[in-house]
This record gives sequence, structure tokens and C-alpha cells, in this order.
Amino acid sequence: MSFYHDAKNVADYIASCTEYDGVSLERIIQVSIPMQGSLLELGAGPGNDIPFLNKHFDYTGSDCSEPFLVHLRRHYPAHHFVYLDATSLPDAPKFDVIYSNKVLHHLDIDELKQSLEQQREKLNPKGWLVHTFWAGEGFEVFHELHFQYYKQSQLQELFERDFRVVNIQSYGEFAKKDSLVVIAQAKP
Ligand SMILES: C[S@@+](CC[C@H](N)C(=O)[O-])C[C@H]1O[C@@H](n2cnc3c(N)ncnc32)[C@H](O)[C@@H]1O
Repeated sequence: MSFYHDAKNVADYIASCTEYDGVSLERIIQVSIPMQGSLLELGAGPGNDIPFLNKHFDYTGSDCSEPFLVHLRRHYPAHHFVYLDATSLPDAPKFDVIYSNKVLHHLDIDELKQSLEQQREKLNPKGWLVHTFWAGEGFEVFHELHFQYYKQSQLQELFERDFRVVNIQSYGEFAKKDSLVVIAQAKP
């Protein structure tokens, strides 16, 4: 994860997001889960999704990159941000929704399994997960960062171990159907 510990890389990433358009993802989320309650965002990065999430949820942001946390606290002073690594989450406090947008692809498959087990413990009863991934197959390492690509069937199998998978849907971020969103609910 050293890439996102470098303030220059973080500044470049933030600058590259000026054209970000999360409308397709917002539409899917709005018709999939109850839009209320407490929400924890993992890997909030530049904070592009905060205006949308904050309209509906009691928002808490997190990241495991100090430069991103500095940026988030400066640009969104009304919100609470904590240092969290998605692979070592504390049980408390608990949330109604855990959300991430293009974060968990930086974990390898075993780390994702570990993170999902921990997220299960961090959710209120019948709580929701909303996580996005890049669509594809296999993995690559680029600038020391792990990029894991997924097919719908793989994500279904990984999430249904601990969750009821409600929807796995493709959508476009840079290109048509380049992304997948998983919406899942904690099993009782
Ligand atoms: C591609 S950026 C996405 C940022 C933001 N969610 C967005 O949509 O622009 C990946 C983010 O995941 C964070 N990240 C990477 N590995 C992580 C981990 N193990 N736990 C928590 N955050 C992580 C990075 O610091 C960075 O903020």
C-alpha cells in the first residue's frame, strides 16, 4: 500500500478525479438499499462520494492512507474520519451500511475473505454492504499496488459465504460495463 502513502501520488490521484461522475452508481444504490442509517466508507480517498452519501446517511469516512486522511479532514471538516485498514477492522462501532468504491480490489482474494468476515462483525443486524470492483479476470501489480479483477460469479461466491447477495450488477465508470457493484445484506 506504499503507493497511497506518498503525498505526491495522492495529489495526482485527486487531480485525476475532476471528471468523476458517480451518477450510474448512485442510481443503482438508491433502488437497492434503504437510504438511511449510519454508513462507514472504507478507502474514501478524495471523498468524491461524500456529497451523495451524506445526503442520506450519518456518514463516517476512513482510509489507511495518511495523505488521503489529511485531504479528507481539510475538505470535509464537518465529518469524522478514522484510520482503518480494510483487512484489520475493529468490531466496534457498528454501522448499518459499509461502503467502498474501488478499494477492495487492492486486496488479494484471501485478504478480501478476511475483510468480509470482519465487516460481518462490524455491521448492525441486517446491515448492508455496498462495494464496487473492476470487472475482469486475474490480477496485476502496478506501482506496487495489487489490482484484483472479478467476474460476477466469483464475487457471488465470495460474498455469499457471510452475506445474502441481493444484487451484483455491472455499470460503467470509464467504459461500458467496466465495473461491478455488489449489494449484500448480513445474514440473520
Ligand atoms: C482507487 S482509490 C479509490 C478512492 C475512492 N474510494 C474513490 O472512489 O475515488 C483506492 C483507495 O483505497 C484505499 N485503500 C487501499 N488499500 C486499502 C486498505 N487495505 N484498507 C483501506 N483502504 C485502502 C487507498 O488509500 C485509496 O484511498
